[in-house]
Amino acid sequence: MEIKREQWGSRLGFILAAAGSAVGLGNIWKFPYLVGENGGAAFIVLYLICIVLVGLPVVIAEILIGRTAQKNPVGSFRELSKGNPFWIAVGGLGVITGFLILSYYNVIAGWSLGYVIESIKGSFRQFNDPESAGQLFNSLSSQPYWTLTFHAAFMILTVAIIYAGVTKGIERASKFMMPMLLFLIIVLVIRGITLNGAGEGVRYLLKADFSAISGKTFMIALGQAFFSLSLGMGALLTYGSYMSKNENIPNSALSIVFLDTLIAILAGFMIFPAVFAMGLKPAQGPSLIFNVLPVMFNAIPGGYIFRIVFFLLLSMAALTSTISLLEVITTFVVDEFNFSRKKVSVILGGIVFLIGVPSAMSFCGWQKFTIFGLTCFGLVDFISANIFLPLGGIFIALFVGWFWGTRKALPYLLEGTKNFPGVITAT
Ligand code: TRP
Repeated sequence: MEIKREQWGSRLGFILAAAGSAVGLGNIWKFPYLVGENGGAAFIVLYLICIVLVGLPVVIAEILIGRTAQKNPVGSFRELSKGNPFWIAVGGLGVITGFLILSYYNVIAGWSLGYVIESIKGSFRQFNDPESAGQLFNSLSSQPYWTLTFHAAFMILTVAIIYAGVTKGIERASKFMMPMLLFLIIVLVIRGITLNGAGEGVRYLLKADFSAISGKTFMIALGQAFFSLSLGMGALLTYGSYMSKNENIPNSALSIVFLDTLIAILAGFMIFPAVFAMGLKPAQGPSLIFNVLPVMFNAIPGGYIFRIVFFLLLSMAALTSTISLLEVITTFVVDEFNFSRKKVSVILGGIVFLIGVPSAMSFCGWQKFTIFGLTCFGLVDFISANIFLPLGGIFIALFVGWFWGTRKALPYLLEGTKNFPGVITAT
């Protein structure tokens, strides 16, 4: 039985859902500390170059593939390549990458949910230095019970939204959470930059140290651009498959890329001015938001509330990303095997939870279990984000630019696009 494919209720719904996929832990947790470690404003400039020259075209390419074929990544490549096994495998790689990323991403998302609860309980109140908050973080993340409970809880939230469907689930959740997120982040930015001594943090972000830029920083910036835009595994392709042929792809892509970049930069301005104002050190790397921030809020008037707001914001940003990952693998099974979305979302949620258990346990008891010097968490992260995503991105670009060919692909891009700069439509 063919079930009619769902479509986004509105253009705004699509943009907010796709921007929701893009905006996530990558923007709020990772981008600020990468800027801090890699030359401040110089890194931001490099990142913007990667976003505009590489990110934007691949965003357009992915959405175009999905919208043209109206299928999951595997089905889309099968249809547009007329059954070429290589390209079908590229779609398959995307689905596998979706399983892998979701499995460990959900663990960190679970921590942020756990921190909402800890913030409400007031667990951070007595701390006045990042070391003691770090000890709490270590003790929480090293309890299998705590980590796995929130890993499971976050997966249940994710499944609940996918279970409800594209418009009733993803679109509705994104339309509620994205404006809320933007609002909360602006509140926190204003709180941060109006603190005494915040100027130093602003200067830290804006000071361009071009001597910190090397080939390696370039790779870090490019990798971050890919991860942050949710590129290279068919997430935007899948969201594009629910898009109507009357919508303008380049314009939508611009809005998505703009929102993602804006929120990453705002996250920097939310965190660093406050960190400096509190006299804390900026170069904390990955532990920045779990060790430094809880303490920082103690020194801020109204900190108890702002801390809850912060972790709530982090959890919402993560949730609009986890749903996009679960959606990719869910549509794959629904399209290819004709099962019901409801059953598939629950079963896949359970499977991804299990795949994520070793990653979660990397912080509680399995630290010593390493492969190539990496914990399970580190290994899954490395393989999926540093190898599979860039590989997928290259193949997507090659597919549209070379195999399908720009000349053949262009008419599909122009559907719904009245004016596209530099292109004469009447050919
Ligand atoms: N972009 C999200 C972030 O910045 C993470 C994410 C969601 C993702 N879906 C993805 C990354 C697909 C790569 C591919 O946190």
